[in-house]
Amino acid sequence: MHYIKKEFEEAIKEIANQEELKQLKAKFLGKKGRLTELFKQMANLENEQKKEFGKNINKLKSYIEETIIAKQKEISEFIKKKSLEEEAIDITLPSRRKEFGAVHPITKTIMEIEDIFRSMGFDVEFGYEIEYDLYNFEMLNIPKEHPARDMQDTFYINDNVLLRTHTSPTQIRVMKEKKPPVMFISPGKVYRRDSDITHSPMFHQIEGLLIDKDIHFSDLKGVLSEFLRMFFGDVPVRFRPSYFPFTEPSAEVDIGCIICKGEGCRVCSHTGFLEVLGCGMVHPNVLRNVNYPEEYNGFAFGLGIERFAMLKYGIDNIKLFFENDTRFLKQFSF
Ligand code: PHE
Repeated sequence: MHYIKKEFEEAIKEIANQEELKQLKAKFLGKKGRLTELFKQMANLENEQKKEFGKNINKLKSYIEETIIAKQKEISEFIKKKSLEEEAIDITLPSRRKEFGAVHPITKTIMEIEDIFRSMGFDVEFGYEIEYDLYNFEMLNIPKEHPARDMQDTFYINDNVLLRTHTSPTQIRVMKEKKPPVMFISPGKVYRRDSDITHSPMFHQIEGLLIDKDIHFSDLKGVLSEFLRMFFGDVPVRFRPSYFPFTEPSAEVDIGCIICKGEGCRVCSHTGFLEVLGCGMVHPNVLRNVNYPEEYNGFAFGLGIERFAMLKYGIDNIKLFFENDTRFLKQFSF
């Protein structure tokens, strides 16, 4: 009997899971198990011995049963502990942070400029990037032989259709649609065959147009001076006579160089001033082309958004806007 107990004790040490335990139980307590064998042996014994032997077998049986139950408990606790350990959430692990995007500096600049003009009462309108030659040039008083129509500057799609070279055709589109007075700005992409550190074949402009009765050059000057002050802060502003086919008189607007504060540097070509705007009183031919009544007139202006953003944020290469390096772009989040 002792050897069976010993055998059992040796065997149970090796048990690692419930399945093995079940087999062990069958081996010792099952119908054909070791204890049944012992009971069978009992038949050959004398009555006195039988009693003693039977008692001992029963003792052994209870011992085996209890040990198995204890082992069962031990195994299930071990499994529970293990799964708790495995499923545990390690709260000391740093979380994966969500990356927030940033508004592109061009978008941000457009939003800032829109805010300023909206505060003055301007609407915002949109034109088309693929445009008719008619609207991009012809109706803006740019005749067929004008150098701006040169194949070198313009991306033509066919004889009559092109990628707009400026946002000015939006003037024509809006005036064809709406009766005067009109007062809007219009941001958007424009295209020219040009590429260096300050030029990109695609860039952004904002057009502005104000048509009403009794509009004077002083209105243009007041609106644009105030806009530049609101955008750049207190900088000197200078209006210089210039030429555009669709405005007369025309002017270019300079601001005191932001980089050298007027001292003269590489950025302003040592003039102390930077050109930032083209503008003028809308040419009577343009108003006639859209059938606006004689008593209406007004002013228009156009500006390059990249240039405004470069000056305001001190960016020295236009390509940075289009390379989409998030380390650069992130700096402009609100
Ligand atoms: N369209 C002109 C340009 O692209 C800018 C401009 C717009 C000038 C409106 C005068 C009036 O250079």
